[in-house]
Amino acid sequence: LNELIAEGVRGRYILVRSDLNVPLDGSTVTDDGRIKASLPVLSKLTDAGARVLVTAHLGRPKGAPEDKYSLRPAADRLAELAGFKVTLAADTVGDAAKAAAASLQDGEALVLENVRFEARETSKDDAERGAFADELVALTGGNGAYVDDAFGAVHRKHASVYDVATRLPSYQGDLVHTEVEVLRKLTADTQRPYVVVLGGSKVSDKLAVIDNLLGKADTILVGGGMLFTFLAARGHKVASSLLEKDQIPVVQDYLKRAEDAGTEFVVPTDVVVAGKFAADAKHETVAADAIEGSSFGAQGIGLDIGPDTAAAFSERIKGARTVFWNGPMGVFEFEAFAAGTRSIAQALAETDGFTVVGGGDSAAAVRTLGFSDDQFGHISTGGGASLEYLEGKDLPGLSVLDR
Ligand code: 3PG
Repeated sequence: LNELIAEGVRGRYILVRSDLNVPLDGSTVTDDGRIKASLPVLSKLTDAGARVLVTAHLGRPKGAPEDKYSLRPAADRLAELAGFKVTLAADTVGDAAKAAAASLQDGEALVLENVRFEARETSKDDAERGAFADELVALTGGNGAYVDDAFGAVHRKHASVYDVATRLPSYQGDLVHTEVEVLRKLTADTQRPYVVVLGGSKVSDKLAVIDNLLGKADTILVGGGMLFTFLAARGHKVASSLLEKDQIPVVQDYLKRAEDAGTEFVVPTDVVVAGKFAADAKHETVAADAIEGSSFGAQGIGLDIGPDTAAAFSERIKGARTVFWNGPMGVFEFEAFAAGTRSIAQALAETDGFTVVGGGDSAAAVRTLGFSDDQFGHISTGGGASLEYLEGKDLPGLSVLDR
């Protein structure tokens, strides 16, 4: 990015892909971490006199405008935080965007409406995506450049991430740069013990990363909804808890391979079971091998790790020199089932080792539970992107810049 700024950007239209995919409650941004993380690059460019066109997505609309996926709340929050003028165009590449871009002044930013309101953004067809990319590029006049600063989206081969970079002089934004530097430390010359905490609902989302961590991580602590598939793989009944039956053999294979690879899986010994999935559900703590023995019987749903497990996990975390955490330990959105996630966040905050929190949900969890960003080594803005980086996959948004 500094290279681009040194070349001179005053008066030029610079297309910046940012990650403004923030959680909303109605029109309120509930975690503005990604917006704050996007600001430095936008400020650098506007300070240098660029006319910045920001592209971003929010949620997963189906290729057509939908009010609930408008970038309005994110753009408003960005405007509040920014020291430069920020406006939102009513469409992405239509007449509104063209008119707003034409009247943009040096040092101002225009957020184009959700790129996923265009089906061509995510199309599998190169020509379709290319045509949309051409329209984005056209907004930059003849002298534009592209900056990819949306680390959270680098794993997507989408028009605003990938195809525009094949059409404009392209640069890596500072956020992408920092994220890659940090994640590299988790894949090479990692300081050990290296403890990985995995949670979240589905084990099927984590298979590739687990595969890649066997032999690299010393310990993998398993929590969240996915823990029940691990318990089932060990032959325990899990009542009505989340279970991916088809993944049981896969998990059994991992448990076996982990032993040979020198990676230890630590699976909960106690869980918090509720009678229903609700904030005010009655609940009790039971041993992980006795879930059906709770007073809810076969109706019981595990919604958090238990206190013994939280203590055992915390001990491992505090003894680590590197910790990567992805995925909440329980349904932290309900206070009654937030204790496990809170304990893990606390343990990360207290460890002397280098800690990385990855994933939109985990980042939102630590912030909504009252922790501040500076209590952790790094809070990644990437969810799927950070996992795919750790899986060792090619990330189209990064490799296109290398080219
Ligand atoms: C994320 O939330 O991980 C990124 O913004 C990417 O969103 P997506 O999974 O909808 O592509």
